[in-house]
Amino acid sequence: MERILIIGATSDMGQAFAQACALQGSSIMLAARNGDVLDRMAKDLRARTQVAVSTHAFDALDMEQHEVFYQDLPERPDGVICFVGLLGDAAACQQSFEVARRVLDTNLTGVVSILDLVANEFEKRGRGWIVGVSSVAGDRGRAPRYHYGCAKAGLNAYLSGLRQRLFKSGVFVMNVKPGYCRTKMVAGWNLPNTMTSEPEEVARVILKGIHRKQETLYVRWMWRWIMWLIRVLPECIFKRLKI
Ligand SMILES: NC(=O)c1ccc[n+]([C@@H]2O[C@H](COP(=O)([O-])OP(=O)(O)OC[C@H]3O[C@@H](n4cnc5c(N)ncnc54)[C@H](OP(=O)(O)O)[C@@H]3O)[C@@H](O)[C@H]2O)c1
Repeated sequence: MERILIIGATSDMGQAFAQACALQGSSIMLAARNGDVLDRMAKDLRARTQVAVSTHAFDALDMEQHEVFYQDLPERPDGVICFVGLLGDAAACQQSFEVARRVLDTNLTGVVSILDLVANEFEKRGRGWIVGVSSVAGDRGRAPRYHYGCAKAGLNAYLSGLRQRLFKSGVFVMNVKPGYCRTKMVAGWNLPNTMTSEPEEVARVILKGIHRKQETLYVRWMWRWIMWLIRVLPECIFKRLKI
């Protein structure tokens, strides 16, 4: 039986992923900052399945506590996935570095801080998997929400480097770029159905991706090609577009 640590477990994707893991019989450690939601999730998972579920307080911004958090887990995980993310208010980010820093630290520095600890342990042990949930926003910086995009671009580079470093130790690293997904992060957005997944679909695709050892995962196939096109657009055209 696999032991899975889900960081940012109260995210809509994290909740769907926890359920999918429990249904396949994995024991689960749920980590997030909202204890009440975690307790509700754990109760629900225990009622529906026989798997062991524990809950743990985790704040991505409280980086000094990450080592204690990780060492205090009741079991050593076989796999770790991080869903933590903050879209933030783009206009506010442009006006205030304090706001921008929160977006940068939540999406990048805080994630690197915890995944480095996981990576060092998994490397010594010579097995395990690490999944970071990034975004297509990191594939090319665009005017709407480029602070979020730059943090996710940093996360893409981090996961790529981590994968190369850990390859020889037998540790697998995956980068998930969900594209649009109907969660509270994008509540109220008018999203095209064909390009938008549900959290349950994301969970299913990630589990399949881990099994198949897919390194970079776009949840819906068209996002790979859309982002390829956006990446290859010459700057002289790209800077004039509203995308
Ligand atoms: N939805 C999309 O269309 C979309 C597209 C591309 C990428 N993503 C990425 O997918 C991941 C999951 O997001 P989601 O769509 O499921 O949205 P979500 O439900 O809003 O999840 C974001 C999660 O991040 C957590 N978080 C924020 N700041 C934190 C901090 N300081 N410490 C610990 N946790 C913190 C939130 O915790 P609380 O529950 O305590 O607020 C929340 O659970 C994120 O990384 C997001 O960037 C989403």
